[in-house]
Amino acid sequence: MVDLDILLAGSYNISRGNLRKQVDEETILHKLSELLDADKLTHSLGVRDECVALAVRYGADVEKARLAGLVHDCARGLDNDQLLRLATRYKIDVSNWEDFDLSLMHGPVGACLARELFGISDEEILHAVAVHTVGCKDMGLLDLVLFVADYIEPNRTFEGVEDIRTAAEQSLESAAVTGYAATLRHLLETNRLIHPSTIHSRNSLLAKLLKSEA
Ligand SMILES: [Fe+2]
Ligand SMILES: [Fe+2]
Repeated sequence: MVDLDILLAGSYNISRGNLRKQVDEETILHKLSELLDADKLTHSLGVRDECVALAVRYGADVEKARLAGLVHDCARGLDNDQLLRLATRYKIDVSNWEDFDLSLMHGPVGACLARELFGISDEEILHAVAVHTVGCKDMGLLDLVLFVADYIEPNRTFEGVEDIRTAAEQSLESAAVTGYAATLRHLLETNRLIHPSTIHSRNSLLAKLLKSEA
């Protein structure tokens, strides 16, 4: 993990003028294989392909969706200490996260890491990656494609996943709300804190759905 080690040591030049040119998919895959274990890499490939399928179905940019899906969990293999160190480096407000499961920070940290390691500069892709763990109010099309693909990629087998797959045939909003229901059930059953963005995002999606049904 040479790149990551350098990043964690804080000696990588982050100034905009030195940002890398976007690297090709083969190079991204090679770097991801250094950052993620085999299961997480398989999941990332599944999300990449599911993002493509959803993008085609719902009219999102297929190439952006493919790239967002591939890199979305690039920070998923980091431990809490590494996430906090990178969050400081990237000036991410840790107070939004520290009361909750810190691993949720792999969204915003991952977006910054994708920019720095893979040279991805497309703001839509980076936003989708940043919000994929908890969502946000008024998620855009690419945000929703990634958010839903993360739930339903073919390797996912958790209880309730088929309901989300079925809902994804109706709309992305419906699938995301069904996904949130599964997540919220799990958080309640295991007595865990619920991140406020999860509530705001779920409410804004449900309000939109109810409005469209009225
Ligand atoms: Fe993730
Ligand atoms: Fe994921």
